[in-house]
Amino acid sequence: MADDLKRAAASKALELVQDGMLVGLGTGSTARFFTEGLGQMVAGGLKVRGVPTSRATAELAASLGIPIVTELIGQIDLAVDGADEVDPALNLIKGLGGALFREKLVAAAAKRFVVVVDESKMVEQLGRGVLPVEVLPFLWRLTAERLTALGVSLVLRGGEETPYVTDNGNVILDLTVEGGVKDPDAFGIEIKKVLGVVEHGLFVDMTDTVIIAGADGPRAIGRTSAAP
Ligand code: 5RP
Repeated sequence: MADDLKRAAASKALELVQDGMLVGLGTGSTARFFTEGLGQMVAGGLKVRGVPTSRATAELAASLGIPIVTELIGQIDLAVDGADEVDPALNLIKGLGGALFREKLVAAAAKRFVVVVDESKMVEQLGRGVLPVEVLPFLWRLTAERLTALGVSLVLRGGEETPYVTDNGNVILDLTVEGGVKDPDAFGIEIKKVLGVVEHGLFVDMTDTVIIAGADGPRAIGRTSAAP
């Protein structure tokens, strides 16, 4: 069922793709449906190029015959990605899939950033689940201590024996914010000030459109009125 909803959201986003576009390709199970659909369109003759947000997505896109771009001059026409949480202001938590840094770079480079989710991802306040933060592995415990001073608890993703390593060679600390993230913008700035932090999973004021798939089908909300 969840897969059906994810597929429905991704299919709706595919309606936004036009010939000649440079398309940001997200990471995760929902974004995967989008990339697979795009691959089918390319096989049918559509001419687009993709900017992948992870090695996994790059490999998937290449296997589907989608031409890949990793150096960018100018802007991406359309970026489509999933999210772990979406709040009423369309701010996001991303990074459970570990690709948050490249995902943020791609979203920030896009003329239009479209988020595809099933309705379980919609929250009243961010922080229901963990907030992933990518940090440098070197002296990461000190970085973790500095983050803890912000009033959060945290774990090293994967554990100390087998830490999860990102495509950028970094590790991820998953933060639990007691009471949720009250001011995503301010909290993101505080986290970014911490020495050792590479990037965090709060995406504030970046989303143009969210396509939410529920039992009644996909619907779009956001600041861009263009279809879907
Ligand atoms: C990866 C992400 C994903 O977009 C996010 O975790 C959602 O994934 P899924 O669609 O599998 O639920 O941020 O870093």
